[in-house]
Amino acid sequence: MTHPAVIDELMALVDPGKVLTDPASLEAYGKDWTKHYAPAPTAVVFPKSVEQVQAIVRWANVHGVALVPSGGRTGLSGGAVAAHGEVVVAFDQMNRILDFNAFDRTVVCQPGVVTAQLQAFALEQGLYYPVDLASSGSSQIGGNIGTNAGGIKVIRYGMTRNWVAGLKVVTGQGELLELNKDLIKNATGYDLRQLFIGAEGTLGFVVEATMRLDRAPRNLTAMVLGTPDFDSIMPVLHAFQGKLDLTAFEFFSDKGLAKILARGDVPAPFASDCPFYALLEFEATTEQVAEQALATFEHCVEQGWVLDGVMSQSETQLNNLWKLREYLSETISHWTPYKNDISVTVSKVPAFLRDIDAIVSAHYPDYEVVWYGHIGDGNLHLNILKPEHMDKDAFFASCTKVNKWVFEIVQRYDGSISAEHGVGMTKRDYLGYSRSPEEIACMKAIKAVFDPNGIMNPGKIFAPEQKQ
Ligand code: MLT
Ligand code: ZN
Repeated sequence: MTHPAVIDELMALVDPGKVLTDPASLEAYGKDWTKHYAPAPTAVVFPKSVEQVQAIVRWANVHGVALVPSGGRTGLSGGAVAAHGEVVVAFDQMNRILDFNAFDRTVVCQPGVVTAQLQAFALEQGLYYPVDLASSGSSQIGGNIGTNAGGIKVIRYGMTRNWVAGLKVVTGQGELLELNKDLIKNATGYDLRQLFIGAEGTLGFVVEATMRLDRAPRNLTAMVLGTPDFDSIMPVLHAFQGKLDLTAFEFFSDKGLAKILARGDVPAPFASDCPFYALLEFEATTEQVAEQALATFEHCVEQGWVLDGVMSQSETQLNNLWKLREYLSETISHWTPYKNDISVTVSKVPAFLRDIDAIVSAHYPDYEVVWYGHIGDGNLHLNILKPEHMDKDAFFASCTKVNKWVFEIVQRYDGSISAEHGVGMTKRDYLGYSRSPEEIACMKAIKAVFDPNGIMNPGKIFAPEQKQ
């Protein structure tokens, strides 16, 4: 625990009242959406400028205090959890859009800008920020960059990484680096900007980001299609990709749909019950595009890949169809799910899912399992729901037992143990299933360059170093 006199020194570095130590703030700012860990930070500090962030990092180096960055705290891997007396650096006060360049189509954001704020700003300019997540209403740009957030439009637009033109970061030693200067072309050696994206705050903190915008999509139209089994989803994806430029291709199971419909505020897509559902989206820019979509749907029905389907005819219907997928995460959070976020190349998905499903049904016959995910990106979310009366710790312990087998399959398929949620604390012990020992050694060496004293979000991505 950090000594009170040291916290007094921290208070002198920021504006009055911007260091909190009351139990409610420590509880709120010490955790993210992961429910495994008990928050236990020493203090929460709210810098309002780059200089204040630098001063905090220098202070932390002098006193050997661990820092945990905090954005919207919507993470699902414990990347923003402070469970060991760390000081949380919350970016809520650095939440302004600083500049917009219509010619370059770029926006300069402070790290605490909320994703939805950037999306709305882009629309006001007649443009579009395409990284979209169920948590857009509270996740912050700094956190999105820290985890290289993906979401529901990756099939068309890629991950956050693709939209970062330039970054200002404060390293683990308090130095300010300006990375890439917003250039499109820059062949001057290592692209350090990309190293900080997805680093989960372990190398330094993002204090400013220039984000790229795109043209706004026209007449977005969604289809929800019911399939007779999981395997039919893949030929449906292939058929639609051959005919249309998709902006999304998602899937969910009947169990997921049942949970959504039980809420009572989202209409069913159609009357038939199907084991799996695909949600796809495209820009119906002309009548011909919409006709092409309907012809492809009919082809899929003829082939026996699709049992029923619906195409949105209005913005309200588009939004309602999206709710079937977007509300899943929040809806099942009631059952304290044990979450997995795994990926393989798209062509391997059917065999991969079959192998994982066999392991999961053999070992968790009594648990309810809800599958959904970004199938067009090869990214599957496996959610195991906690039985209502089971103790949380006992439940997580029993889920952890099967991890080894699940991740062995991931490794066999050359997949990733974390496609988009990050490694954080929940996946750090399994990193070796996706990264070789040599790669992990390089990653640790890179961390030592930017954060030689190990104060930046320690215990995330890698297990904490054992003291000799
Ligand atoms: C999603 O796809 O809905 C998000 O990644 C969150 C989740 O997996 O629950
Ligand atoms: Zn997801």
